[in-house]
Amino acid sequence: MSSPTDTRARRTFAVISHPDAGKSTLTEALALHARVISEAGAVHGKSGRRGTVSDWMEMERSRGISITSAALQFDYRDHVVNLVDTPGHSDFSEDTYRVLSAVDSAVMLVDAAKGLEPQTLKLFQVCAHRGIPVITVINKWDRPGLDPLALMDEIEKEIGLKPTPLTWPVGQSGEFQGVLDRRTGHFIHFTRTAGGATRAPERHVPADEAADVAGDAWAAALEGHELLEMDDADHDQERFLAGRTTPVLFASALQNFGVAQLLEVLLELAPAPTATPTVDGGAREVDDEFSAFVFKVQSGMDTNHRDRLAYARVCSGVFQRGMVVNHGETGKPFATKYAQAVFGRERTVVETALPGDIVGLVNANALRVGDTIYEGTPVRFPPIASFAPEHFMSARAADTGRFKQFRRGIEQMDQEGVVQVLRSDLRGDQAPVLAAVGPMQFEVVSARMESEYGAAIRLERLDYQLAMLTDADGVDVLNGVRGVEVMRRSDGAFLALFPDKWRAHTAKRDHPEIVLEQLPASG
Ligand code: G4P
Repeated sequence: MSSPTDTRARRTFAVISHPDAGKSTLTEALALHARVISEAGAVHGKSGRRGTVSDWMEMERSRGISITSAALQFDYRDHVVNLVDTPGHSDFSEDTYRVLSAVDSAVMLVDAAKGLEPQTLKLFQVCAHRGIPVITVINKWDRPGLDPLALMDEIEKEIGLKPTPLTWPVGQSGEFQGVLDRRTGHFIHFTRTAGGATRAPERHVPADEAADVAGDAWAAALEGHELLEMDDADHDQERFLAGRTTPVLFASALQNFGVAQLLEVLLELAPAPTATPTVDGGAREVDDEFSAFVFKVQSGMDTNHRDRLAYARVCSGVFQRGMVVNHGETGKPFATKYAQAVFGRERTVVETALPGDIVGLVNANALRVGDTIYEGTPVRFPPIASFAPEHFMSARAADTGRFKQFRRGIEQMDQEGVVQVLRSDLRGDQAPVLAAVGPMQFEVVSARMESEYGAAIRLERLDYQLAMLTDADGVDVLNGVRGVEVMRRSDGAFLALFPDKWRAHTAKRDHPEIVLEQLPASG
């Protein structure tokens, strides 16, 4: 791919949405517009359509959810766009949190008929927490849905962002004719294509001719536009970047309506990669020597490629395949001979990558989530915060003769962050405790342990609901409290497990001398 080498011409974003809002369809529509694919159906491949991108695992296929994360890179109008995929299911919020540490902006996809849904809200909170600017897309406008002004009110009330629509629908939901471009005043008229499989032609109609084309719907759109003007709902770049407003677009991903506008807005308004803060309080500038951080580790992607991939986001400098970099955590050199761009099953070799790009490093056994790799001046990026687990299971090898495979597999799940693995002398190596934000994480572990390591596992639910951080002094004290157990996480942190929050309150009250801190909540 001939990519412009200017960091300012790069956009790295993720789509955040509730399952079924249309994320896969939108991804496909974006790829179609950028001419990565020529016909819809190649990417998400539902309903027997050709090809698949994200269904590498049997379980994922049967459930129709996306568990893996990958990045789709494409050129568009002298820019390079990186769309980082986010898992859709609520149980994978930990994973999503990490993905969001690798993007510069997010597109919040809202179903026009459903408005803001729980998973959207949760993901939005992660964006707000990380200071990621959010562009909102109201999707499925081709179907009957809510009133557009009511949707704007909901966004403002529920998430506290002022919506600043850049386009306004012409035709109520279900009668989508096009949009009023609020900045030019033009009517952008969409034309349907068969099944939405190809790019939808659009015509820019000057305002004084729009009523002839759109009829009464144009007057209604103008009225909406004027109300927004009076409400101070015009775009303001500074307020958008500060996370106070969200530009809004109306679309139908299925019909490929409004997708060109989204790409334009990403190029025009979404931020380019900037300096990355470091642990010492400084920052690595984009044009400093090469550095990147690992935000996801994954293995068993495909039976043909049984390898381990570490996804790293380039923060500064230029990545060149084959370069030998330093691994911040071990101080050891790391050779990057095998670097790939990965999107589902599609893999291409990456020769060069710039800040904002995502590189899949193959056979990266030493790399863990949150690790830094760099050239030249040493640098460490702050760790990616993990969510507080709320579900706990003790795991054992179903067949004790496969203990070696069991141990290896569990180690791998831990490093990938599929679950957190907790250990204690009391429970020993044979029965570690798996801790998860959502119960589906356990199913993923079970399925993968069996298919990838031939080590079926037996899980036993533990009666804990809450984990808090303590220190070495707290271990003995808390292990002495009835119903409480202290375990060690692989990063060395001690977690005290409690059956309920009352027990945690009591322990804190009775032992003010020990450290007992809350972990970040999953929202
Ligand atoms: P997700 O990745 O966010 O989970 O959503 P996905 O794209 O799979 O879309 C969920 C359903 O919503 C799909 O229907 C899809 O066709 C439909 N959809 C997405 N965007 C639009 C849109 O703009 N307008 C309309 N009318 N529908 C849309 P499905 O029946 O579950 O799947 P399929 O069999 O049609 O593929």
